Amino acid sequence: MSSKININNIEIKNNDIKNNDIKNSRMKNDIETKSMKNKNDIEIKNNKTKNNIEIKNLTKKFGNFTAVDKMNLTIKEGEIFGFLGPNGAGKTTTISMLTTLIHPTSGTAVIAGHDLLTEDVDIRSIIGVVPQSFSLFAELTAQENLEYIGKLYGMSTNQIKERSEYLLKQVSLYEHRDRIAGIFSGGMKQRLSLAASIMSSPKILFMDEPTTGLDPQSRIAIRELTEQLNSEGITIIYTTHDMEEADKICDRIVIMDQGKIIADGTSDQLKHLIMSGHLIEVRLSPEEKKDMHNIIPELKKLSFVKSVVYNKDVMHITVNTKAGTFYMISDFFHKKNIVIEEIQYKEPSLEDVFIHLTKKDVRD
Ligand SMILES: Nc1ncnc2c1ncn2[C@@H]1O[C@H](COP(=O)(O)OP(=O)(O)O)[C@@H](O)[C@H]1O
Ligand SMILES: [Mg+2]
Repeated sequence: MSSKININNIEIKNNDIKNNDIKNSRMKNDIETKSMKNKNDIEIKNNKTKNNIEIKNLTKKFGNFTAVDKMNLTIKEGEIFGFLGPNGAGKTTTISMLTTLIHPTSGTAVIAGHDLLTEDVDIRSIIGVVPQSFSLFAELTAQENLEYIGKLYGMSTNQIKERSEYLLKQVSLYEHRDRIAGIFSGGMKQRLSLAASIMSSPKILFMDEPTTGLDPQSRIAIRELTEQLNSEGITIIYTTHDMEEADKICDRIVIMDQGKIIADGTSDQLKHLIMSGHLIEVRLSPEEKKDMHNIIPELKKLSFVKSVVYNKDVMHITVNTKAGTFYMISDFFHKKNIVIEEIQYKEPSLEDVFIHLTKKDVRD
């Protein structure tokens, strides 16, 4: 049964609430409505909701290089939790440690009550993993791949048949079940990986960049399947370098850069708390670039300007009030004889948050 509940058009997801018949009155007691604007602003107070993953000072070094640096983080049961960051941020290394593939250099994590360092076998029995690269047998058929995993988990022949057929239908590969995985398209391979990862009915699913390199249709299919699994009660840890994607599907997001968490919150919190103020985007002609090292400090001195970031001919200026600042900024550039190609107020995106935090573009 779906655990998505709709009350007053607000969608609430929670692993522990499985009964759609729960009366509004009872739900109201359980829900503290901080703001009615967004599902992310709603916290569910439920005694049964326990912290599912507690990451404590988790660190991974490769020689002298620190790939994950003293990470501390709590991931709640029932969330779609996003690890967002550019290539090399440390997302895969974090996932590899949490899924017991590699040992931490120091620190640990407790996953559903089991310590990573001492209870790795228990952890493996309750998690599923969709790895960053395809890791199933290319020469086996879709069905055989799932059967192989079922046997690894000690499932009975009947269970294996039932579960594999159910999952092949769920990921729209049932008609292709007797074809070898090696000839599948990228999207089909990824759907098969997803089916394989949940063959053993895990409580927690780690997905490492599951949509990277896929066509738009396949991306949507993977995202919809992810949301469906989450609504069935699976906690999802989802890594991506795609800001828009994280914004679309994640209940909570950490932004990672160079092995560290640099921000943590819901998409709305990240956009509005971190970037408190209003964002003005100014597009300048490329020729103006040479003068910017003088201009930016002057802009920053203006009393209403909170921050200035200049990146690839686009300047993002955060101002503390909307009143008149748009014209004052235009006027500032006009007096310096700097040609503005475009100026506008902008709703901050997660990409803007990233740029403001790191002062660099996510693709750099
Ligand atoms: N086995 C390894 N040996 C040495 N360096 C590694 C190894 N695995 C990852 N790294 C380095 O650690 C950093 C983080 O990598 P990774 O976790 O794969 O990042 P992401 O998944 O965010 O792209 C990168 O600089 C990468 O080169
Ligand atoms: Mg990676």
